[in-house]
Amino acid sequence: MKDNMPQVARFWNDIAGDFDKIYTGNKSGIGRALDKWLRKDIYQRFDWVMQKSGDVRGKQICDIGCGSGRFVTEFAKNGAAHVTGVDVAPAMLKLAKNLVTQDGVQGVCDFVETDVLNWKTDQKFDTTIAIGFWDYITEPPERLRNIRSITTGQFLSAWPRFWTWRMPVRKVRLQYIQGCPVYFFRKPQVIKMIQDAGFRVESCEVVGKLFCVDARPI
Ligand SMILES: C[S@@+](CC[C@H](N)C(=O)[O-])C[C@H]1O[C@@H](n2cnc3c(N)ncnc32)[C@H](O)[C@@H]1O
Repeated sequence: MKDNMPQVARFWNDIAGDFDKIYTGNKSGIGRALDKWLRKDIYQRFDWVMQKSGDVRGKQICDIGCGSGRFVTEFAKNGAAHVTGVDVAPAMLKLAKNLVTQDGVQGVCDFVETDVLNWKTDQKFDTTIAIGFWDYITEPPERLRNIRSITTGQFLSAWPRFWTWRMPVRKVRLQYIQGCPVYFFRKPQVIKMIQDAGFRVESCEVVGKLFCVDARPI
């Protein structure tokens, strides 16, 4: 299978600042309105993760594909013992480091620049999340197994659903125009891949155009 990671890393590196503006709303009124309408599930999945992860005080947390660090800083501010963000795009990690510093939680956060596929670590995490991540992964099973090997308590993930009206729009815009491959998944496929990696699926909910899955190691 072709490794698309160089294109994915380049794409996210180039648009890191623009991506974070979806969270800050630092754009025109029309841009904000479009985000609220077209990207509503970006906000919904954030709320879903914060609700499902429960009381994070004292926990070790890992965010795979942490992007600009919005989840990392929220977990840290909510009292996590330590939060590790992993991402392939240096510009995203720079934003994430600035954000946790600005929020005064840099002491409990660290960041690793790598594809999770190549991450060699002995660390274990109570909670691992991979949100807005599987959209860009050709072959999830190997990365899921790596995530399983570092996760002791809970794994929260979001998967873009196959055949919503957004799917052809994103395929054309992201893959054919902007050069970043993007993938979509069916529910049975998502559940099977997560189970095959060694997790028990607690719930798989439709959140906007996503499947949001709460899983526990077996
Ligand atoms: C849409 S952004 C989501 C960022 C963050 N999770 C959020 O929801 O705000 C996807 C991020 O995943 C990162 N990424 C994609 N594939 C990756 C991989 N194999 N390993 C680590 N990071 C990856 C990209 O660089 C990008 O920052």
